[in-house]
Amino acid sequence: MSMLMAEELRFFLPPALVALFFYVYLTRWRRKRLNLPPGGAGWPFVGDTFAYLKPHPATTVGRFMEQHIARFGKIYRSSLFGEPTIVSADAGLNRFILQNEGKLFECSYPSSIGGILGKWSMLVLVGDMHREMRMISLNFMSNLRLRSHLLPEVERHTLLVLRSWRDSSTFSAQEEAKKFTFNLMAKNIMSMNPREPETEKLRLEYITFMKGVVSAPLNFPGTAYWRALKSRSNILRVIEQKMEERIQEMTSETEERAEDLLGWALKQSNLSKEQILDLLLSLLFAGHETSSMALALAIFFLEGCPKAVRQLRIEHGEIARKRKQRGDAGLNWEDYRRMEFTQCVINETLRLGNVVRFVHRKVLKDVEYKGYNIPCGWKILPVFAAVHLDPSIYDDPHEFNPWRWQQSNNSTAAAAAAANSFMPYGGGPRLCAGSELAKLEMAVFLHHLVLSYRWELAEADQAFACPFVEFRRGLPIRVHALHDTCSH
Ligand code: HEM
Repeated sequence: MSMLMAEELRFFLPPALVALFFYVYLTRWRRKRLNLPPGGAGWPFVGDTFAYLKPHPATTVGRFMEQHIARFGKIYRSSLFGEPTIVSADAGLNRFILQNEGKLFECSYPSSIGGILGKWSMLVLVGDMHREMRMISLNFMSNLRLRSHLLPEVERHTLLVLRSWRDSSTFSAQEEAKKFTFNLMAKNIMSMNPREPETEKLRLEYITFMKGVVSAPLNFPGTAYWRALKSRSNILRVIEQKMEERIQEMTSETEERAEDLLGWALKQSNLSKEQILDLLLSLLFAGHETSSMALALAIFFLEGCPKAVRQLRIEHGEIARKRKQRGDAGLNWEDYRRMEFTQCVINETLRLGNVVRFVHRKVLKDVEYKGYNIPCGWKILPVFAAVHLDPSIYDDPHEFNPWRWQQSNNSTAAAAAAANSFMPYGGGPRLCAGSELAKLEMAVFLHHLVLSYRWELAEADQAFACPFVEFRRGLPIRVHALHDTCSH
């Protein structure tokens, strides 16, 4: 046996060594000939990953990025997540990458994300299957549904949260924002009711789940990844049970439920059970972590900017007055369209807070950009946060200034460039499917918040990018009711 192996080795080893030699030589030769962006490879295996992901205040780009941009410019090369990577803090390149999805670049998240969100999750899918899932999500959050169904739902869930606050009480604003967006999603995705123990249990399960999405994919007891995989199974069990119940209801022809995404996917799509499970799991995730964090950031920034709160109160007071004159119990779409300054506050919150800081892409074909070669097969990360905090695009980028988004200020070329570089929801064929819902959630919540309460930080806190944005202490605030709470 060992004689045979030695014979085989003697036969295969020399050509394998020659092939390896040529591979290394050719790769080096190709690299020398290419004009790669400047940069370095960092440590063996891990590259610069730890330095890149090191927690930093959400309103900054972090030391690693700052130093690299200062040394190499807005486009540099590095080694991240185990692969040679181009990092882009260049607004034009970021736009180019997103708009050429599927042609020159393709969505490509680390394997840990696929392991946890599932292989049918929209973040992982590419090509036709991605398009099909996207259509389902866009249908669920269409303009028509936003106006007729989701606006009253958002308002109902806002009031449920705000009416539970007691005058002069202190609590975590981040936690309350998460309850609001999670309950809204759970209700509209699979008709789960807020305050019921199963809904709350599912929400808490997502906290463990979330921690694994950004962890190293080490699957053994005790690691964050292992715990997140367990959470994934628990979450899937709940969704599956809901699905079984729904199939039963549909076959027994009992009273029809309100149209939720689960019912729609079962009746109108050709998706398999496994695909529906991953779709619902990842929509619940995408739909509540991001918008709740955006809301918490708005509460934080506004606390430090009383002038903006005053202007919001004037805008929303006027809207509430018109609503009362009409005799309507709730807000309508015209009321929402009148929330102009609120939209400036939302934009500024997303620009400065950068809830989604960068996305993962892979280069499909050799590309040349601004004289640099971007080689096929490399990873490329468009970093939106670096553009949103770029002083050459936004004046005083570290200042919370919602007025920079006002129409009257948007006529200059500089303002147009700033608006053009603003990509909190990504762009191109993978533009966030929930961006309109997210804006609606924030605007309606802010409407009732500013009319019902004033608030202050109960303890100093700061949002950190880890890389998911989170307040270290959960953003503790103390609220004081204004006249009769939530009667607006
Ligand atoms: C302020 C809140 C939000 C922000 C900043 C945000 C940001 C983003 C970004 C940057 C992407 C692109 C990811 C990529 O290109 O790889 C994305 C995708 C997505 N978002 Fe959001 N999002 C928010 C809220 C929501 C909400 C409320 C939903 C509702 C369910 C949602 C559902 C999705 C979905 C389904 C995708 C995948 C789209 C696709 O691949 O075609 N997002 N989001």
